[in-house]
Amino acid sequence: MSMSLEQKLSDRSAHLGVIGLGYVGLPLLVEFARAGFKAIGVDVDPARCAKVNDGVSYVKDVPSKELSAFAREGRIRATTDFEVLREMDGVNICVPTPLRKSRDPDVSYIVAAVDEIAPRLHPGQIIILESTTYPGTTEELILPKLEAEGLTVGRDFYLAFSPERVDPGNPVYQTRNIPKVVGGVTPECTRLAMLLYKQCLDTVVPVSSTRTAEMVKLLENTFRSVNIGLVNELALMSDKMGMDVWEIIDAAATKPFGFMPFYPGPGLGGHCIPVDPFYLSWKARASGFEARFIELAGQVNSQMPYYVAARVARALNGEKKAVNGSRILVVGVAYKADIDDVRESPSLDILEILRGQGAEVSYHDPYVPQVRTDHLSLAGQPLTAESVKRADCVVVATAHSGIDYDMILQHAPLIVDTRNVYKGRRDPRIARL
Ligand SMILES: NC(=O)c1ccc[n+]([C@@H]2O[C@H](COP(=O)([O-])OP(=O)(O)OC[C@H]3O[C@@H](n4cnc5c(N)ncnc54)[C@H](O)[C@@H]3O)[C@@H](O)[C@H]2O)c1
Repeated sequence: MSMSLEQKLSDRSAHLGVIGLGYVGLPLLVEFARAGFKAIGVDVDPARCAKVNDGVSYVKDVPSKELSAFAREGRIRATTDFEVLREMDGVNICVPTPLRKSRDPDVSYIVAAVDEIAPRLHPGQIIILESTTYPGTTEELILPKLEAEGLTVGRDFYLAFSPERVDPGNPVYQTRNIPKVVGGVTPECTRLAMLLYKQCLDTVVPVSSTRTAEMVKLLENTFRSVNIGLVNELALMSDKMGMDVWEIIDAAATKPFGFMPFYPGPGLGGHCIPVDPFYLSWKARASGFEARFIELAGQVNSQMPYYVAARVARALNGEKKAVNGSRILVVGVAYKADIDDVRESPSLDILEILRGQGAEVSYHDPYVPQVRTDHLSLAGQPLTAESVKRADCVVVATAHSGIDYDMILQHAPLIVDTRNVYKGRRDPRIARL
């Protein structure tokens, strides 16, 4: 069984499926096609499937030109019909893993995907989970569902976990050149999963188990969350002590060893850093272990939008103005620079908090034409000298590279700069984080 899968992977005649065609799944599908595999995407969203089939990319890192060429040549296809999984030699699962309102893991998307795979599982097939999740998911949740069909892992079919580390918008590191960590349920599962990725990615890093591979991703993202939490706390502390945290970090970063700079900001955003560490703390709690760093970093980071709102209030106060009735223009609502993703974005919290305090809020973001949350529905505004002059305060919340920050500085009566875009500029109208 593994011989024929090995053969198909090696000569790239294998048919590879990707379930979930988002920021992670679509770039992976394209890498499979680039390597010469026939790649089929399955997504519950018919609009996304139609776009893929029409060669229209909705993920910034995937060029429409390349996608349309692959779609035209029949090397990429997308469908909502899970029946295609029967033809697949490999299936990668890239569905969302959000938190529930109670901050517990919501693995329902993984369960839904596996429930579609299980009745179509066939001998010689390899299944790889890429969604970020708690250690144990692959073996405790997925394996029993697949083996219930009567096939045995490592002998009849293969199962592995490989965390996705893609960083949307990163011009240097993309799916292909980010080393891929892989852990299989059995050594044969690891070997075949590695073989699959080696066909299309530059570097593959094996680990001893699925549980280890799951934990690797959570260590990486917890590391970021905790360090950002630390530096956010230092920013608050420096403000109280009348010091410039940005200058302190830049000077510390000149140390050539033992220090890695992290920067404060208006809060965490995106589908990963604010979410993933809680997958780990939830699982740790089930083992009777309290993950204190994760909880503390979560508390500090989630308070940052409130701190930014307080900073706006303080800046306005200096001008004898109240938040209530002031016009606040937020520049940047994507959670990080040069992307269009607003999931968990702290800018949305800042807009909601200030609006709740009576401000007249608006935003500009070249990547995000409109935002809609439970409490907010806004269309983006053009960034002009007039719109900047009209605002009582401009909040720079995301450091998009295409923004004319000099123009903002020329016309804004007050600026709260949460990203240090005005590094080194001494101007009484600028309030830094
Ligand atoms: N976005 C990132 O930067 C990033 C980076 C690394 C890892 N991850 C992880 O990768 C996973 C996917 O994240 P994403 O950002 O690509 O999500 P996404 O929301 O961009 O895409 C997920 C896709 O899955 C589809 N989907 C949902 N349920 C489905 C089902 N049952 N069957 C088929 N399709 C289904 C959705 O319609 C959507 O198109 C998550 O676990 C995330 O934590 C994300």
